[in-house]
Amino acid sequence: MGDNRVVSVGLVGLGRLGRQHAENLAYRIPNCRLTAVCSIKAEEVEEAQAQLGVPYGYTDYEDMLRNKELDAIFIASPSSYHCDQIEKALAAGFHVFSEKPLGLYMEEALRVQEAVRSHPNQVFMLGFMRRYDRSYVYAKRKIEAGAIGEPVLIRCYGLDPAQAMPGFLQFAKSNYSGGLFLDMAIHDLDLARWYLGVEAERVWAIGGSHRYTELAQLQDAETGAALVQFAGNKMGVFVAGRNCAHGYHIETEIIGTLGTLRIGTVPEKNQVAIMDDRGVVRECAQGFLERFEQAYLDEAIEFVEAILEGRQPGVRVEDGVLSTALGYACKESYDTGRLVEVCA
Ligand code: NAI
Repeated sequence: MGDNRVVSVGLVGLGRLGRQHAENLAYRIPNCRLTAVCSIKAEEVEEAQAQLGVPYGYTDYEDMLRNKELDAIFIASPSSYHCDQIEKALAAGFHVFSEKPLGLYMEEALRVQEAVRSHPNQVFMLGFMRRYDRSYVYAKRKIEAGAIGEPVLIRCYGLDPAQAMPGFLQFAKSNYSGGLFLDMAIHDLDLARWYLGVEAERVWAIGGSHRYTELAQLQDAETGAALVQFAGNKMGVFVAGRNCAHGYHIETEIIGTLGTLRIGTVPEKNQVAIMDDRGVVRECAQGFLERFEQAYLDEAIEFVEAILEGRQPGVRVEDGVLSTALGYACKESYDTGRLVEVCA
């Protein structure tokens, strides 16, 4: 580390989300410098370097890890690379941020957990950015202040816009995303653990593909639901989908012994009501970048601050392992039609 008040970051992955992280790391975080970018697509690297003024560009990840000016690696590559890239970055001595999910398989997630634990002086953070969204943070504080008594049931909708489906189908033909529950519901599974304060015990998950039936050939579902029994007789109901006609619908309800909190019940784009020949229209958010723009920035600020303050951040590797275990149990239940015990 050169100047120890500035964290020098190398980012891998410059796709839909990586590009947003790149802008945040380059421009919007005090004490952070985006020093290097890496993607297997040379044109993405050149464009990011030119537009964001990034000194170093790589098409090979291991080449980037040899850059001695870097303090930290930020991983926004496809999910199947996360575990290998995390392990290599930790072994090379870097602090590491990785996008969710931690891993697509339990064995690799557990391996990464060991790697993180054996490098206790390096910061590791997983990108469960909803924990940094202002509304979700506010709800957490309310629960901690006793506003709804003891939280006992959580109901979550995580629905991607139908307009993103053609792009997803293209992606899914040559890439394994982990399936509906591990890829999409993982944020909700993490939030459930966070809000309920207990771990999952067993799950029954179902799903189907009714509009895009080709998803069934890819062993995936268009829409799915999971019913989860948590410890202490607490409950979770999770609906995940990729075919939401009205847009990007992320909704969470937490029912407590004394009250209820709802976040994003009507997933409005903003506060504008359009009154015309269709009636009164509130437009819907259309994607994760729009809905969680502030959370992506605040999670990256937390990562940089944790490095500068020499502490571990709020989202740890254990959160990744436990949510992956639950996501995997959902997938297994969906695949087999059976009630599945969750084991991490
Ligand atoms: P994408 O497909 O748009 O971008 C992937 C990027 O990684 C591209 O720049 C590609 O060239 C690069 N890449 C692929 N293989 C590589 C390799 N071996 N070495 C270096 N670079 C490589 O993917 P997207 O949608 O940006 O997702 C990336 C990750 O972020 C995924 O793991 C996904 O689960 C996660 N994600 C998280 C979200 C959240 O809400 N936290 C939202 C969207 C994605």
